[in-house]
Amino acid sequence: MAKSPMRVVVTGAAGQISYSLLALIARGDVFGRDQPVDLVMLDLPFAKDAMEGVVMELTDCAFPSLKSVTATCDQTEAFTDIDVAVLVGAFPRKPGMERNDMLAKNAEIFKAQGALLNTVAKKTVKVLVVGNPANTNCLIAQKYAPTIPKQNFSALTRLDQNRATAQIAAKAGVTSDKVTGITIWGNHSATQYPDAWHGKVNKDGAEVAASAACNDNAWLKSDFITTVQKRGAAVLAARKLSSAMSAAKAIGDHLHDWICGSEGRWVSMAVTSDGNKYGVPEGLIYSFPVTCQDGTWTVVNGLEISEFSREKLTVTADELSGEAKYAAEFLEKASA
Ligand code: NAD
Ligand code: LMR
Repeated sequence: MAKSPMRVVVTGAAGQISYSLLALIARGDVFGRDQPVDLVMLDLPFAKDAMEGVVMELTDCAFPSLKSVTATCDQTEAFTDIDVAVLVGAFPRKPGMERNDMLAKNAEIFKAQGALLNTVAKKTVKVLVVGNPANTNCLIAQKYAPTIPKQNFSALTRLDQNRATAQIAAKAGVTSDKVTGITIWGNHSATQYPDAWHGKVNKDGAEVAASAACNDNAWLKSDFITTVQKRGAAVLAARKLSSAMSAAKAIGDHLHDWICGSEGRWVSMAVTSDGNKYGVPEGLIYSFPVTCQDGTWTVVNGLEISEFSREKLTVTADELSGEAKYAAEFLEKASA
């Protein structure tokens, strides 16, 4: 029997990530070629013409699973009856702007979008936040959408996981598909902790620990971590634009595994901490290793955490607690 269409909204639809992402979704690479999609694009009014151009291109691709495509600047229209919301649009950090100023600007955007999703989206909607600061923006959207289950909110750290996996693959001399179990802990920021200690590499038909395949623990404790932590900045410095193609690929990977299942593999997603795992405070949107089945993620529990790792898990949790506190204070003051 034919599947009923899935209604998917992408915000920031005229931006550079969306230019790659929309085609992945429309082609069926994310939800499957047999899953019809009603695609909704949302951006600010100044970007309306650019969005219309992308609509023309999507139409001209003649994708069989793209049932309809709508471009709008009306948030209510965009979020009504939505099944999947990919929140890419955000206020960018401008030269000279403090990180807290950017947090504050985005807190207002994600408060409004969370409240609107709460009112008009399906209660089963799955929300992926990409716009930075992604973890804290997700926390805010979730807070203002109290009738949508907390399980249904996540933020993107899959790009970091893919970056880390590619680094391990290169070091071990294999292709990326031979590497599993690489984890990103914490914030999508320079404090994130890329962790290869539970990773595995399939080399010459045998599965070995990633640390054995890399055979360089000093590198795993230093350059591997900093390369992944600073990769976004390195791409930005080289391209004069932030990562877009790789971000779109990671969004597709995240959505596919969350909604269609991760088939037992563990993947990294920033999700709500229940306060009972790995010492992460309750309520933070923190990147954990998870498995996904039937649209539900479950944190991989009970991994051994060394002293070295423990310290790094705490640093990134502390940063997230600080961001959450700042955003909450800002929103409280703004509504007083
Ligand atoms: P971009 O500037 O090319 O596009 C952003 C688009 O969002 C613009 O068209 C803008 O008009 C729109 N927009 C801004 N506010 C909006 C709002 N309130 N509603 C709807 N649309 C809005 O940026 P980009 O390169 O596509 O990146 C988008 C965001 O993703 C940035 O915040 C970036 O830092 C972030 N990002 C996150 C990750 C991650 O791994 N989490 C990776 C890469 C980029
Ligand atoms: C990335 O990791 O590439 C982005 O989050 C960088 C950015 O600031 O947009």
